[in-house]
Amino acid sequence: MTAPETGTTTTETDTEALRERALACLTTARARTTLLTTCVDEPDLTAQHSPLMSPLVWDLAHIGNQEELWLLRAVGGREAMRPEIDSLYDAFEHPRAERPSLPLLPPAEARRYAAEVRGRALDLLASADFHGTRLTEAGFAFGMVAQHEQQHDETMLITHQLRKGSQALTAPDPDPAPPFTGPAEVLVPGGPFTMGTSAEPWALDNERPAHPREVAPFWIDTVPVTNAAYQAFIEDGGYTTGRWWDPRGWAHIRRHGITAPLFWQRDGDRWLRRRFGITEPVPPDEPVLHVCWYEADAYARWAGRRLPTEAEWEKAARHDPVTGRSRRYPWGDADPGPEHANLGQRHLRPAPAGSYPAGQSPLGVRQLIGDVWEWTASDFLPYPGFRAFPYKEYSEVFFGSDHKVLRGGSFAVDPVACRGTFRNWDYPVRRQIFSGFRTARSEAV
Ligand code: AVJ
Ligand code: FE
Repeated sequence: MTAPETGTTTTETDTEALRERALACLTTARARTTLLTTCVDEPDLTAQHSPLMSPLVWDLAHIGNQEELWLLRAVGGREAMRPEIDSLYDAFEHPRAERPSLPLLPPAEARRYAAEVRGRALDLLASADFHGTRLTEAGFAFGMVAQHEQQHDETMLITHQLRKGSQALTAPDPDPAPPFTGPAEVLVPGGPFTMGTSAEPWALDNERPAHPREVAPFWIDTVPVTNAAYQAFIEDGGYTTGRWWDPRGWAHIRRHGITAPLFWQRDGDRWLRRRFGITEPVPPDEPVLHVCWYEADAYARWAGRRLPTEAEWEKAARHDPVTGRSRRYPWGDADPGPEHANLGQRHLRPAPAGSYPAGQSPLGVRQLIGDVWEWTASDFLPYPGFRAFPYKEYSEVFFGSDHKVLRGGSFAVDPVACRGTFRNWDYPVRRQIFSGFRTARSEAV
């Protein structure tokens, strides 16, 4: 058997700390939501910048509506504030492409609604019993709602990236770093490790339960694949050589004329990219961003490698070979700090490959958390013992071979929605998301 994961169950002394943490996380999320929905003008809030995305004003009221549903109604037992708007903000009733044509709350009203819900939610938080039901145990519902808002803050940042027009957001760049000169790959020993979690109080249903997983020895890239490495693939005819590609990916890139990551354009003998309203040379040392699963998979095959499976990724990120335990994060059990990872939209780009040595795993793998979401080889499937909670539409309806798993979080993810166990998923053709990857290979036997 594997050693248990680290972490504890909730004690009385944890309750006040969790209440404080919920307040802090909800407040941080709302500050970000406010920035993302006030830095552009009203027509920009109600416009659809891409058929893949909702108008920003939909996200704003949807954030408020989910908070009303799960905190005020489910936890607090209150009546619906505006029952007539529920269906407008139900993501399953209206696909993104049709949301602009709905009678959505105008920006000022959406803001007022979200603020009113928040006021009542904070009243509830002050007195909520954290030991009642599964929904309230350890403040789960409050943590879930804070994560939900932060997930939409990442979604809204994607909308900002897709939006045409001048720059609306700014942030300082990450610190420069010398080119990474450490070993290119790290050997992760074979054997069982504990995957998933049962101890993390705000882990979502698809991360549960903790369970043993056998993994054969494998090598994994020390840092994510960089723009310079990816350019070598392009220059070697990567996009015109069918044998590197999954047949479905090959058909997809040919049908859509895809020849480079999204937002890249050729300028003579160099590449430029568009990033939040500015156009700049592609920085060679930065992890590649805005590639789909098929592009990541093709690059890996060209490099004589493959994508890591989801279990391999998590073992590289969490397994401590000294104790046999699975950590919350690569660096240990401490919450992420600015020295560990590029998270929380502190920067509006990934940091150079090799950054954050303080955030590396016990085996020395860097930037597993933050910077870019990392595509894995795996389909999005439930763990043994999975139970949908609190609603099937968060995870369960997405299980199956249509979606590939991404791990680790991007620069756009807040720490509350990012853990060594956190699972994201998307269609293998998607590349407007903040996605990159690293490669792996099996240990020769
Ligand atoms: C986990 C990012 C795939 O945005 O579709 C937001 C998160 N779920 N509201 C998504 C989510 C419900 C979800 N992802
Ligand atoms: Fe949502």
